[in-house]
Amino acid sequence: MLGLVEFIHSSLIFVTMKTSPVFLDTKPVSYIIGDGALAYSKRLLKDFPRIIILLDENVKEHCLPVFKSFIPEVSISGVICIKSGEDKKNLDQARYIWDELTKMNVDKDALLINLGGGVVSDIGGFAAATFKRGIPFINYPTTLLGMVDAAIGGKTGVDFIGFKNQVGLFIDPRSVVIDPVFLKTLDEKQWQSGFAEVLKYGLIIDRELWKILRGKKISDIDNWNEIIMKAARDKIDIVKSDFLEKGIRKNLNFGHTIGHSFESYFLKKDKPITHGQAIAAGMICETWLSQKIYDFEDECLEEIVNMFDINFDRLDISEDIIPTLLDLMRQDKKVRKGKLKFSLLRKIGKAIHHVEISPEQVVGSLKFYMNKSW
Ligand SMILES: NC(=O)c1ccc[n+]([C@@H]2O[C@H](COP(=O)([O-])OP(=O)(O)OC[C@H]3O[C@@H](n4cnc5c(N)ncnc54)[C@H](O)[C@@H]3O)[C@@H](O)[C@H]2O)c1
Repeated sequence: MLGLVEFIHSSLIFVTMKTSPVFLDTKPVSYIIGDGALAYSKRLLKDFPRIIILLDENVKEHCLPVFKSFIPEVSISGVICIKSGEDKKNLDQARYIWDELTKMNVDKDALLINLGGGVVSDIGGFAAATFKRGIPFINYPTTLLGMVDAAIGGKTGVDFIGFKNQVGLFIDPRSVVIDPVFLKTLDEKQWQSGFAEVLKYGLIIDRELWKILRGKKISDIDNWNEIIMKAARDKIDIVKSDFLEKGIRKNLNFGHTIGHSFESYFLKKDKPITHGQAIAAGMICETWLSQKIYDFEDECLEEIVNMFDINFDRLDISEDIIPTLLDLMRQDKKVRKGKLKFSLLRKIGKAIHHVEISPEQVVGSLKFYMNKSW
């Protein structure tokens, strides 16, 4: 018997257990979320004759010992260690994984565990889905960003000739096991990066989450288990209703059209910033655009901008790079027939997608960001 209470919410079945993790049996993926998830997950693994773990060198040092100590009875047949970092999310490393799986004589009965942040789950899901036309995989995210975003939703892939996520496919893992225990060794920069995505859920779909967080600095937050559970469920709800991103899933792109241009700009300058830093800046600009279009109260704009300002430093950019940023935005996957399409806010907790924005409006939002002017 799994748990105490079963209830239906947004077409998902949640089973609340005596221990605190939540088991979501949502076909074809099951989720275990919250403190205790790692220990609980051993029952997902028992039917696989061979288990291979994919990780990077930092995860090998910090998280593999945690994994082994919580579920010592799980026998691991092999470990594949890739190099960490976004610049390593490429076909060479996917090839390395295929090589290792081949050397280990892995067949379709085996399970690949992606233990790591978004780089590991993106490349691991891609490698698993394409090896022998697909072997099963389970994501065990170890970064905040992985827990609330990258490990959920079936987007897998690699970067290619300088373009992010250029080659890849939608393919769901068997399960996603989200246990905050792994976060103990995560550095401040990576916490902050994931926090930007948490704030995004508050703004686009979850007013209650925004209310819990508003006005707080990341260092003041102590109820991470609750926050991760809420944010992960928000993402699950969205991808469950629109797996292939035909409609509502596009709302997750709030902050990302302008944010990605910042991310690419700094990457090209060889001064990479985290995804979260870029998206936080993008959300400031896109909140300004939202207010111009949907005319919500000034206090609301102020509240959102202040929340980002107390948690993220403004990026060091000036107006002379605006044409470069616009060019980068035109290369975005969301551009259709040369038009810039945005996901914006109607109000806190409600987003809208496919909003066409002119280059002049984008320039206005960038100037607002750079000049910190109201
Ligand atoms: N598939 C999706 O839907 C989706 C969504 C968002 C982001 N992403 C992708 O996710 C990637 C970013 O993910 P990320 O922010 O997790 O970065 P990451 O995977 O590069 O991890 C960040 C760093 O933290 C280290 N690390 C991981 N867990 C640790 C731990 N517990 N303790 C100490 N160090 C640890 C890693 O080795 C790495 O150096 C990007 O490639 C992005 O494109 C994918």
